[in-house]
Amino acid sequence: MTLYMVGLGLSDEKDISLRGLETVKNCDLVYLESYTSKLQCSVSDLEELYGKKIILADRELVEKRAEEIISNAKDKDVAFLVIGDPMCATTHVDIFMRAKEKGINVNVIHNTSIISAIGVIGLEVYKYGKITSIPFLNENIKAPVEVYGMNKRDGLHTLFLLDLDPINGKFMGIKEAVEYLISNNADENVMAIGCARIGTNDAVIRVDSLKNLVNYEYGGAPYCIVIPGKMHFMEEDALKLWKE
Ligand SMILES: C[S@@+](CC[C@H](N)C(=O)[O-])C[C@H]1O[C@@H](n2cnc3c(N)ncnc32)[C@H](O)[C@@H]1O
Repeated sequence: MTLYMVGLGLSDEKDISLRGLETVKNCDLVYLESYTSKLQCSVSDLEELYGKKIILADRELVEKRAEEIISNAKDKDVAFLVIGDPMCATTHVDIFMRAKEKGINVNVIHNTSIISAIGVIGLEVYKYGKITSIPFLNENIKAPVEVYGMNKRDGLHTLFLLDLDPINGKFMGIKEAVEYLISNNADENVMAIGCARIGTNDAVIRVDSLKNLVNYEYGGAPYCIVIPGKMHFMEEDALKLWKE
């Protein structure tokens, strides 16, 4: 039997690939990893399309009881659904490795990730440096600005992911992230891009100085911010599309 790690993409229930959909329909158990991103549809929308009951796997289930998911795959076909791409999150690579070590068949069905879809803003994806996350509890946290400093030195673009706690309906907004960056000495006048719900039909992308990003309406989560590194003139032209 097999553990299928299936990417759901970034939008609603219809973003799953045909291969993913066929697989989920044939699985005995279907888990949804529900804590690293935000679905743009309800769990019941997924259940209706798949014709399956979904077991919500929060951080505790995935990180502490991953063995339960893995051992079920010894004698059942198990789907582990992940918003975005299943391999674009460290915890999921861990499940993949642990299942393989136990001799369980693992099959990954990829999908769009924020890490690929961010290409839509017009900065070349292969010119990004290290990705960094701004956590909710960030009073003494310097890693995001240190990563930005390194990327900047190398002329690379920086993608800032913003913390979220979907189970409790908490999502760090653009304003909070901008405040964190400016209070940690990022130049408030540097050009930056504020993004919401990339990959959906109502994605919002705004280009302005870092401090002015807070002046726009972004709608619902999830959000991220990009600060460009050294730009080719075609990248500069592309960003003009998102200026108001
Ligand atoms: C752990 S990452 C998501 C990983 C996911 N497996 C993937 O492949 O996209 C979650 C963070 O990415 C960002 N993010 C995810 N989806 C997004 C979207 N559609 N638009 C903007 N930011 C997004 C948010 O900052 C969110 O907190």
